[in-house]
Amino acid sequence: MMASRIGWFVLGCVVMAAAIAVGAWLFVANGGVAMETNAAPLPFERMFAKMAIRAAVADSRKLPDPLPYNEQNMVAGAMLFRSHCAGCHGLPGKPSRMGKAEFPHPPQLFTPAGMVTDDPEGVTFWKVTNGIRLSGMPSFGDVLTEDQRWQLAMLLRHADKLTPAVSAALSGASGGGASAASANGSAKCPCAGSMMQNSSAMKSMTPSH
Ligand code: HEC
Repeated sequence: MMASRIGWFVLGCVVMAAAIAVGAWLFVANGGVAMETNAAPLPFERMFAKMAIRAAVADSRKLPDPLPYNEQNMVAGAMLFRSHCAGCHGLPGKPSRMGKAEFPHPPQLFTPAGMVTDDPEGVTFWKVTNGIRLSGMPSFGDVLTEDQRWQLAMLLRHADKLTPAVSAALSGASGGGASAASANGSAKCPCAGSMMQNSSAMKSMTPSH
């Protein structure tokens, strides 16, 4: 008697699970999940994305930046940021227009609201190296050297403490910075260059020489 009740209960669970699976399938197949970049986020999308990224980067929180915190590394990071990141993440006083057209919006990393100065450098290094899936954030693991990615992590950790030399490198005003960046590898962007050419932020960033 007892055993058969449990049997019915289990069967009920299985039928219900199957119904949920079929329902989810039909929902997606009939266009229930918006795939447009300019559509509103799905229910819980932000929450799950935040949870997933927090779990993914957990181990990198304790990774120390192997490079010394100094102006040379900060300037090198600024040069790289200008060439590889600013098209989406903007520059001080110059938010990216293309950023507004992406989903999710790339945080403007030199504005108080978008800064990641509270994140350990290891976490930023992880994000720059691996990218963020299902967002526009590319992975730079094969594009930039390890030192270059640490220089970027250092820059973003100290985005609220820019010296005049670092600000000049970000704005493209420093002629001397170019050699610093090329000493650390090419500052040319083989990755996102073409997609950033449409952005007015990128156009105004093109060095004038
Ligand atoms: C094509 C656009 C694009 C480019 C180029 C790009 N990013 Fe991103 N990035 C994004 C988007 C979109 C996100 C937001 C992802 C999300 O919300 O989950 C992001 C997120 C990030 C974050 C996490 C911010 C946070 O609040 O946690 C960091 C750090 C970052 N990018 C650094 C960089 C650096 C450094 C570069 C250049 C080497 C770069 N990005 C180049 C689009 C871009």
